Amino acid sequence: MIPLFGVQRQTARLRAALDARIAAVLDHGGFVLGPEVAAFEARLAAYCGAGGAVGVGSGWSALHIALLAEDVGPGDAVFVPAFTFTATADAVVAVGATPVFVDVAPETLNMAPGALARALEAVRREGRLRPRHVIAVDLFGFPADYAGLAAVAAEGPEPLRLLSDAAQSFGGSRDGVRVGAMAPVTALSFYPTKPLGGLGDGGAILSDDEGLLSRYRSIRNCGRGPDGLQAEPAGPTARLDTLQAAVLLAKLDSFDAELARKREIAAFYSSALAGLADLPPPAAEAESAWALYTIRCAARDRVRAALAEAGVATAIYYAAPLPHHPAFRHLAPPAGALLVAEDAAARALSLPMHAELTDAEVETVCAAARAALS
Ligand SMILES: Cc1ncc(COP(=O)(O)O)c(C=O)c1O
Repeated sequence: MIPLFGVQRQTARLRAALDARIAAVLDHGGFVLGPEVAAFEARLAAYCGAGGAVGVGSGWSALHIALLAEDVGPGDAVFVPAFTFTATADAVVAVGATPVFVDVAPETLNMAPGALARALEAVRREGRLRPRHVIAVDLFGFPADYAGLAAVAAEGPEPLRLLSDAAQSFGGSRDGVRVGAMAPVTALSFYPTKPLGGLGDGGAILSDDEGLLSRYRSIRNCGRGPDGLQAEPAGPTARLDTLQAAVLLAKLDSFDAELARKREIAAFYSSALAGLADLPPPAAEAESAWALYTIRCAARDRVRAALAEAGVATAIYYAAPLPHHPAFRHLAPPAGALLVAEDAAARALSLPMHAELTDAEVETVCAAARAALS
């Protein structure tokens, strides 16, 4: 079976570099906040063009800590796209705030500025929640329309803060600006299948704001300040492990080459499948990090079965918009507000996308997908 992700192949390819990095940590023994954490944070911030980075335990923790650091809590509305991984909204619930689900744009499947404006207007009209934050997700690696969202967020009596959930888009860019420098605060995930994936959980928060960065450092460290005294009332233990930082340092060395290969594969898929399905947005607008190559097609189950028959693994991201999940059902907006998200959930299908695919495998995927979609 041609695998959807290439984690095991990549681990084998990078094995010597990973072994050396891991051995160095075993030797010095600084397993918590050891030197690799600060070294990785510095490289990450420099790569993204952000003022600083703070390594945390996961992408979920990155979102959670970013919201805690800005005192988002009960009574606050946080606008999130309706079509994303559940963690985006779950982190909002974890700080006691209320996620407000916003429809996505049909071309990119990222939060649509016009839909944000409508959702914001409805919350203001109702007057029950205080609009505080927008979390934009760069779905499947494609950067959201930060300029469009920021323009809506800036309108009205109390401007909203913008937080980028870039769990899937490390390495993406728009007009020469990399993910990590597109919003005032960016949350990353290093879950193994992400564009930059660890060998376990990990995440980071990026910002130019020194005050926020220092709050993130305290909060991730169960609330302790640099002097060891409790500085934050509610800090989880959510530091990036030294071992994961060491692994990520090794993986950063080959990141650009992998991204270039994924771009090549994406271009190949897009030309082979043109006209047969709705395809990911073209690179003219922004450069995706290609966390996934997701098409939208009719008769998805049949297409999926045909691909499986041809030895091609596929997956469905995501089978339901967030307000269709039991935990969020009570927060669903009125029927008709999330038509694009609902359509995407019914038709989305992700094909194998990783730098470890051989040319022959890419051709097999294209041939099988063309036959299944024709
Ligand atoms: C959009 C999005 N947000 C948040 C997360 C949460 O990241 P993690 O699994 O590292 O907690 C993920 C991925 O898993 C994600 O895809």
